[in-house]
Amino acid sequence: MTGSDLTPTTAGRRDPTTGTAGSAGTAGTVRTADGAGTTGPSMLGRVCLVTGAAGGMGAAIATSLARSGATVVLVARDRAGGEAVARAITTATGNTRVEVLIGDLSDQSAVRRLAAEFTAAHRELHVLVNNAGAHFRVRSVSADGIEMHLAVNHLAPFLLTNLLLGALQAGAPSRIVNIGSASMSDTRQVKITRTARPVVLDLDDLQSRHHFAPMEVYARSKLQLLMCGYAFARRLAGSGVTVNTVHPGLTATSVVDAIAAPALAPLLPLVKRLLLTAEEGARAAVHLATSPWLEKTTGRYFLRQVQARSPEFTYDTALQDQLFDTSARLVGLPTPVPHLTR
Ligand SMILES: NC(=O)c1ccc[n+]([C@@H]2O[C@H](COP(=O)([O-])OP(=O)(O)OC[C@H]3O[C@@H](n4cnc5c(N)ncnc54)[C@H](OP(=O)(O)O)[C@@H]3O)[C@@H](O)[C@H]2O)c1
Repeated sequence: MTGSDLTPTTAGRRDPTTGTAGSAGTAGTVRTADGAGTTGPSMLGRVCLVTGAAGGMGAAIATSLARSGATVVLVARDRAGGEAVARAITTATGNTRVEVLIGDLSDQSAVRRLAAEFTAAHRELHVLVNNAGAHFRVRSVSADGIEMHLAVNHLAPFLLTNLLLGALQAGAPSRIVNIGSASMSDTRQVKITRTARPVVLDLDDLQSRHHFAPMEVYARSKLQLLMCGYAFARRLAGSGVTVNTVHPGLTATSVVDAIAAPALAPLLPLVKRLLLTAEEGARAAVHLATSPWLEKTTGRYFLRQVQARSPEFTYDTALQDQLFDTSARLVGLPTPVPHLTR
């Protein structure tokens, strides 16, 4: 099947979250090989890059974007796994424009290589989904000597975003979708007390050398991703590149196994049956990546498909800028980052 078999139709629709009408020609249905079709907008001619795409929500996001007709570039750690998912996506959707880039995102040299490989093959990028994420029970450091949550969940997307800004600006209107986590507002795993325990941002201990509590450090890395997302949005205002962060909802994927306290392990199969499936979890990111009604929405946080407030201190622009500059230094970018003014 070729791209021309992914036929968009242009049925007029209303945004399910706001009730506002969308512009004709963008919203529509794409018919695909598996007959699943989608009621989302056509993404024909758009190039989308999804990290952590070899499983879980990332694979579901990539499948959905491919089903909408996009060229999809999967970033995976493992070649065999990445290529197997690419074949499965093509079989399911009929879309042959599915590419794979391989790299361990904890390693900044791999992030630089991935970005270079992408830009060598594509002049424009329309959607960047920073989805890859991980949880570590014990403190460990990356090849660059960076604490692993910080390396994978915040600095990797921060560096990748910076390196792909030229392609995103060339492809404008374009979108960056960061997969955050509501754990930043409450790091408790078992909510038996009434008071939420939000993340504390200690700029003097970003590497968690003095205090390492796994759930807090995971949540803090997601908070950093969100705050730098706000800072990117300010710096990119008017450029046609939007940046939003989304908590996808509690979803039954491997990260849940990694996060759950060992004592909860026997209950996990049961608990996971109550959570969203990977496809359901993927919907919020796909909505942010494709909805015509969100083309200009930027610098926002979403709980699934609904705009929400992140912890109040995350809106402190001076703190965002301080974190942005510190992050730039940790990935070896000059500050201020060239081409990004405040
Ligand atoms: N599930 C939830 O309830 C939930 C809630 C809030 C936020 N999230 C976030 O949603 C995102 C997707 O997670 P998921 O739920 O789909 O869990 P998942 O199945 O564990 O997916 C995580 C993905 O990230 C990739 N990844 C991890 N470390 C990497 C590294 N060093 N280099 C390259 N890729 C790496 C994994 O690759 P491998 O396949 O090679 O391991 C995997 O594809 C994550 O950012 C997670 O933090 C999940």
